[in-house]
Amino acid sequence: MSPFLLPSEPITSFDQYLATETGGKGVAKAQRIGPAATIEVITASGLRGRGGGGFPTGRKWAGVAAQAGPQRYLVCNGAEGEPGTFKDRALLRTNPYQVVEGLIIAAFAVGATGAYVCIKGSFEEELDALTRAVQEFQLSGVCAECTVNIVAGPDEYLFGEEKAMLEVIEGKPPLPRWFPPYEHGLFASSPQEGWEASPHGRTRGAGESNPTLVNNIETLANVGHILARGPEWFRSMGTPDSPGTIIATVVGDVVAPDVGEVEMGTPLRAVIDAVGSGVAPGRSVKAVFSGVANPVVTADHLDVPVSYEGFASISSGMGSAGFIVYDDTACMVDAAYRFSRFLSIESCGQCPPCKIGSGEITAHLENIQSGTGTDHDIAVIGGWLERVTDGNRCFLAVEEQQMVSSVLRAFPEEFADHIENQRCPASESRPMPKLIDLRDGQATYDQRFWKKRPDWTYDEG
Ligand SMILES: Cc1cc2nc3c(=O)[nH]c(=O)nc-3n(C[C@H](O)[C@H](O)[C@H](O)COP(=O)(O)O)c2cc1C
Ligand code: SF4
Repeated sequence: MSPFLLPSEPITSFDQYLATETGGKGVAKAQRIGPAATIEVITASGLRGRGGGGFPTGRKWAGVAAQAGPQRYLVCNGAEGEPGTFKDRALLRTNPYQVVEGLIIAAFAVGATGAYVCIKGSFEEELDALTRAVQEFQLSGVCAECTVNIVAGPDEYLFGEEKAMLEVIEGKPPLPRWFPPYEHGLFASSPQEGWEASPHGRTRGAGESNPTLVNNIETLANVGHILARGPEWFRSMGTPDSPGTIIATVVGDVVAPDVGEVEMGTPLRAVIDAVGSGVAPGRSVKAVFSGVANPVVTADHLDVPVSYEGFASISSGMGSAGFIVYDDTACMVDAAYRFSRFLSIESCGQCPPCKIGSGEITAHLENIQSGTGTDHDIAVIGGWLERVTDGNRCFLAVEEQQMVSSVLRAFPEEFADHIENQRCPASESRPMPKLIDLRDGQATYDQRFWKKRPDWTYDEG
């Protein structure tokens, strides 16, 4: 397999992009065969969404394209808020053109009247690359009449949640709405107001929900290549249920944290070695987290294939293939506390069991981690884990439930040890892997995160 999404040298001009094997050929093919056949090609390729859920992309496109109503929108999700993940920024740094080409094809396929790319305002380098690529595409005439709007969003984790992302595009804070984007799309009034939709800047039409397609940056980056080379080429890589490649990020207790493109189905152990240069000599892997959204992967599962079905077979999830590695010196109580704190701070509070429950779970994990915990703390955590998802609007509450429960199940002896001996045996805490940069084998984490308060203000004192 030769990598096709991550070039060895960055592509920095439209002409350079057109000179690549597939540059510009995907959009030309889509225009030649038309929207319905374009969706068929993507469906036949078996491409699945790289934003974390792995939903079949062709089926998603067909669902949005089939909906009635004059207004449909496309949103490209580049928020990349998952701790331990840097792949969308790596793609934008090395080849933003393939992302723009994929987005033009997707908009054409579903008949979108408007297209939006959302990335964090703090991703300055990627914002510049993306803006340049969009302008060059428009000037080239490839999409002279298509409008691509770039939205610079907030740093909050929920900005990446698709229902919250639509709120941000509409100028509001990142608070997830109730219904998914294909049911309650951009600029549509809320269902409780009678589903009146507003074609952006024009008069509202009754009964329109403006179905909106949301796809991740990496998902769309694949699209032009698939159109240009055909679905069979794509299916020649990866596994039958997870075709193609995946851009994996490997950080944590590894020699050289990095991002790399691997074939789907590669064993996790091999991905840790190939992308992150493995753990330090003399150390072994104790646990791997795929972001904070999935159950922990323990050392006995390191040969799991990196694929959607592979991770499902060990009752975890591949997420966006951002792997946070812990070696045998790490404390799992500390890891659970950090990740739970992240989720509780980032919870928006629209669903009280999520905000209050994740806050309580975090506080009791901190007691245990700091050596003041008792069996009562475990009991309180267990109680909240049952209720934290009650009435949840979005998946964040489920992430808290799954991640914390999995660590309790996998490492009960570490919790017992902390409570019995009233101390944490680990030599040092790990940083919270919220990445702000990753280059030359060096990961830079957002230290300011520790100052963030539950109401999303910062304690600068
Ligand atoms: C709390 C939360 C945060 C998320 N953050 C991101 C993100 O940063 N980037 C992303 O692409 N998807 C994120 N997602 C998933 C999106 O909601 C959505 O499923 C995805 O963008 C769909 O694209 P895909 O079908 O191409 O995977 C997040 C989901 C949740 C629940
Ligand atoms: S589940 Fe949590 S993060 Fe999601 S909308 Fe409800 S309170 Fe907010």
